[in-house]
Amino acid sequence: MKQRSVPHLLLLPFPAQGHINPMLKLAELLSQAGFSITFLNTDHNHERLTASPRLRFQTISDGLPPDHPRSGPLLQDIFFSTQLVTKPLFRDLLLSFPQDLPVTGIIADGIMSFAIDVAQDLGIPIFIFRTFSACCLWAYRCIPKLIEAGDLPFEGHDDMDRPIKSVPGMETLLRRRDLPSICRLKDLENPVLQFFVYETFNIARASGLILNTFDDLEAPILSHIGPHFPQLYTIGPIHTLLKTRQGDTQPTDASNGSLWEEDRSCMAWLESRPFKSVLYVSFGSLVVVTRDELLEFWYGLVNSGKPFLWVVRQDLIAGNDGKGEIPAELEGGTKERGCMVGWAPQEEVLAHPAVGGFLTHSGWNSTLESIIAGVPMICWPQLADQQINSRFVSEVWRNGIDMKDR
Ligand code: UDX
Repeated sequence: MKQRSVPHLLLLPFPAQGHINPMLKLAELLSQAGFSITFLNTDHNHERLTASPRLRFQTISDGLPPDHPRSGPLLQDIFFSTQLVTKPLFRDLLLSFPQDLPVTGIIADGIMSFAIDVAQDLGIPIFIFRTFSACCLWAYRCIPKLIEAGDLPFEGHDDMDRPIKSVPGMETLLRRRDLPSICRLKDLENPVLQFFVYETFNIARASGLILNTFDDLEAPILSHIGPHFPQLYTIGPIHTLLKTRQGDTQPTDASNGSLWEEDRSCMAWLESRPFKSVLYVSFGSLVVVTRDELLEFWYGLVNSGKPFLWVVRQDLIAGNDGKGEIPAELEGGTKERGCMVGWAPQEEVLAHPAVGGFLTHSGWNSTLESIIAGVPMICWPQLADQQINSRFVSEVWRNGIDMKDR
């Protein structure tokens, strides 16, 4: 009798930290469940990850030259280069798998919907994993309604407290300032705005939509989203599933999706701090700040008199290396109460008993990780889904305060 072959899934993340982390965790979970997995990284990112031996890794071009910035505003060039350059390469790659290892299913990121065209053309079933929050996905989906109602476009930063009533399920919640950042683009023909609207509608062509959220958190919004997709799977928070399946800790040979090297010295530093005394400060992987903003936070942190653990990524300050620039009058307070690292093991940090608060940019992974760790948030959202996530934190889930646009 012919032996039944193991299904072989290819996972295609969008090549940014906040997308790679949950996709890699999904890959590990599916591998534990018996699927054969190929994880498709970009050439640019591949060397930066720690790959688990259980997963097969392949690489593909993101379509940009090697020296093109992949953080800050220029990251958005990837939206277009993947459609132009990566899409035909993706087709060639799918056809290049040997006959005894064909790709039998694809899971692609929710802003890589070019993969649906290729998969359907080759007759391969495809599912979409959208790594943003459901509340943000629903707001994107309602952009045509917002335009029809005259809520969009709006000029610059005018009248940002004006109520927005045309997103069903959020009629009494949103103000202009709470809409996803692309809604601040006053030109409706802007290619980035068009890109997100197109992607949000196009993903409904896949066999199903997977979201890194859970019903207890976003049920009312999920009930609006559900009818627009063939199948909806809420599998979050995905970082907790991997741990639960393995007992309390991840397997030692699990992949690590960090694109920066983790500085674990902060864990020892936390050990000597009192229960819930430390403010953890991190703005994720994409946000960049001006030097003035960095200094303003610095003064606030030092003058608060509280211990703080601050992630200052090498590329946090636009065009600058943020390290080694402690102003003389802050140095004492920083040494005494502060610990600064270039990149932290964030999930572990948030779970540490010494951490009592999180000053965050409200990225979706950070928000979920903080909710699960039970750490209240001070939200300073900057881009993408962060503005709407922070509104839900302060007004719906009530586990933090929102200081956007202040
Ligand atoms: C941004 C978004 O705002 C997010 O919602 C969207 O889905 C992707 O783009 P990012 O800025 O990377 O993502 O933030 P976030 O979604 O919070 O993801 C950051 C990830 O990096 C988290 O999983 C966090 O644990 C991890 N991280 C961050 C570290 O491991 N160490 C750090 O020092 C900082």
